[in-house]
Amino acid sequence: MNALSRLWKQLIEKELEQGKAGKSRWRPKLHITPPTGWLNDPNGLCQSQGVYHAFYQYAPFQPEGGLKFWGHCTSRDLLHWTFEGVPLMPDQPEDCHGAYSGSALVEEGKMYLYYTGNVKETGDYDFINAGRRSHTMLAVSKDGREIETKEVLMTPCDYPSDLTCHVRDPKVWKQGNAYYMVQGARTKADRGIVLLYASEDKRHWKLLGRFEPEEDFGYMWECPDVYELEGQTVLCISPQGVETQGLKYANVYQSVTCFLEGDFHKGAQVRGFRELDGGFDFYAPQTFLADDGRRIQIAWMGMPDVEEFYTNPTVEDGWQHMMTIPRELSIRDGVLCQNPVRELAQWWNCSHSFEGSFEGTVESCCALELDTAGEGLEILLAEGLSLRYSPEEKIFWMEFTDSAIGAGRTLRGRQVDKLERLRLLIDVSGVEVFLNEGEDVLSTRFYPKEEALAIRIDAPNGKGIYSYRSEKSSGKNL
Ligand code: FRU
Repeated sequence: MNALSRLWKQLIEKELEQGKAGKSRWRPKLHITPPTGWLNDPNGLCQSQGVYHAFYQYAPFQPEGGLKFWGHCTSRDLLHWTFEGVPLMPDQPEDCHGAYSGSALVEEGKMYLYYTGNVKETGDYDFINAGRRSHTMLAVSKDGREIETKEVLMTPCDYPSDLTCHVRDPKVWKQGNAYYMVQGARTKADRGIVLLYASEDKRHWKLLGRFEPEEDFGYMWECPDVYELEGQTVLCISPQGVETQGLKYANVYQSVTCFLEGDFHKGAQVRGFRELDGGFDFYAPQTFLADDGRRIQIAWMGMPDVEEFYTNPTVEDGWQHMMTIPRELSIRDGVLCQNPVRELAQWWNCSHSFEGSFEGTVESCCALELDTAGEGLEILLAEGLSLRYSPEEKIFWMEFTDSAIGAGRTLRGRQVDKLERLRLLIDVSGVEVFLNEGEDVLSTRFYPKEEALAIRIDAPNGKGIYSYRSEKSSGKNL
């Protein structure tokens, strides 16, 4: 630890002690949130010696964002998370304007944390073609709590010369005897691409090729991920600059996946993107392979650069943003599906079944599962968030009919040919809707006025189960 990181540590400890964020009524029970300050992308997701680790982009001093550190939390069940501190700090000449996003590789009891060291020069620059330097950095740690060493692996002159200054977010994984890395980039021709590297020793990296869009798809691709899933190779990117097309790409930025065809080792032209989430708040997803073989994804349940459209009232309480629930990934009929991790089923200890319609109040942290019997449905939450589907229209709508509850969010829709099953996860100020076993998902923050959540379900021949956790109850109450 150098003098600067010692100082950061003291300042952060003071901030955490004084932070009023703990008292916030909007804080979810199951989802990762920052203790105080601002959170964005998930970083360095991994499982090491049985423990799950999630790091994240963290600005501890301001809920509105600011200089980026890596916050750190751990869990044994992906539901109870313990904040562990802020191990990765901007404390080197190469990362002094932010320890930006990256990933973890766990090997022989060590964590190799790859990230982008961001430097912004002082001056009148556009910060696209000049004025910004991105360094590929490696921090090594035993348990994620303390960083032992930091190294600079690549500097701007190591990147291809047709790129702008925007190169970042290394994701590293091991396959066979080799290590691979992808990084997101923006070319000087304003095309988003992904760089693919390989290494034999985790430190020296050789450019193998690129993943490029067959047709232009945004000017910058952030936070790439590549992984194997049920015999397919999936590429995931978070592009910026994609135009809205009807219901698609309605947010400022998106997160999409596609399947890579053939051998990925030289890069490829890619096509056939599908949006991972159709709600308001979902960005920069990353995955990791759990020890039991599951591919688990966590995304930031937020969105950058939306201040002029919508906000999060938690800022008044000194914190902002949360992660999605960890989601297990699978492929069904060629569609990438996301479902809450199976551990969630253990969380609830009370459930009630209902048929057709239901009106009343539910707990602020609860789940609803509904078989629609192929018919339409409408769910009205907190008298201000409408979730509805009709088989004639074939669109699932998420609409804030009360703009205070949406804090500025309005309407999103997702084309769904047939809706058979819906699963709703509500966690105080976050709602995730999983349709047809996770084929389509819509995520959003919301801010109900009352803590007891009013709900009206209108699902003519539907059958449902409402589940929650009661500290008083020990058994299932069906
Ligand atoms: C995505 C992103 C990344 C970057 C990080 C900075 O939200 O812009 O590309 O590394 O956030 O916080």
